[in-house]
Amino acid sequence: FEKIHNVIFEDSNEASIRVAEEIADLIRKKQAVGKNCVLGLATGSSPIRVYEELVRMHKEEGLSFSNVVTFNLDEYLPMDKGNMQSYYYFMHEHLFNHVDIPSENVNIPDGKITQGEVVDYCLAYEKKIKDNGGLDFQLLGIGRTGHIGFNEPGSHRNSGTRVITLDHITRVDAAPAFLGIDNVPRKAITMGIATVRNAKRIVLLGWGHNKAEIIKDTVEGNISSQVPATYLQEHNNVTFVLDVGAGSELT
Ligand code: F6R
Repeated sequence: FEKIHNVIFEDSNEASIRVAEEIADLIRKKQAVGKNCVLGLATGSSPIRVYEELVRMHKEEGLSFSNVVTFNLDEYLPMDKGNMQSYYYFMHEHLFNHVDIPSENVNIPDGKITQGEVVDYCLAYEKKIKDNGGLDFQLLGIGRTGHIGFNEPGSHRNSGTRVITLDHITRVDAAPAFLGIDNVPRKAITMGIATVRNAKRIVLLGWGHNKAEIIKDTVEGNISSQVPATYLQEHNNVTFVLDVGAGSELT
């Protein structure tokens, strides 16, 4: 496999605009041939500026999302849609409420699914991605544990959408948003490593010094379930878009 392709920008703002442009180009390219554009989307702080730029392109440049189908990576479990900490809320706040995507084209794992229903639910989520022709583009952030989506250390390279137990470090990082670690859910539903790896194109965003070490481990370390993001080394069309801080440990 080739080394993961890195692009390091002076700052995350410029980098985010470039990523938004790539996504917009893909949406338009698919539109021109009458096809849907299937996007895998992430939440968290890393993609916020990308979504902001896509919203700007919709409002100022007429970029339409009428042919866009989205699948979000993950959601806390349990989690109510109306809760401000839900990824459902995040996605609507930052993107879906501001563009013309048909609501039936939006897919976000349901944090209210019961234990009895969850296996079938996850299989159906996988099937829906496949039935839509697979992910054309997957946007990722990375956690300090090396998670992509919520595929924590120990995740299998062939894993699909499933329920996982969040790593302690991930819950520590989420604690401020939940006003204390005791309020952070212990579980989540996440797309699997295989779900992500089946995307035709993957872009991972990394901003700031606190991501520098895990970015180095991911790009330069051995492929291992202990750093699930290292499985991206096996993908032939992945780019890590970094700022100077996140790229600072790379050799
Ligand atoms: C969120 C997700 C996570 C985040 C990661 C980084 O949907 O899949 O893997 O991308 O935890 O989060 P931020 O961007 O807040 O540093």
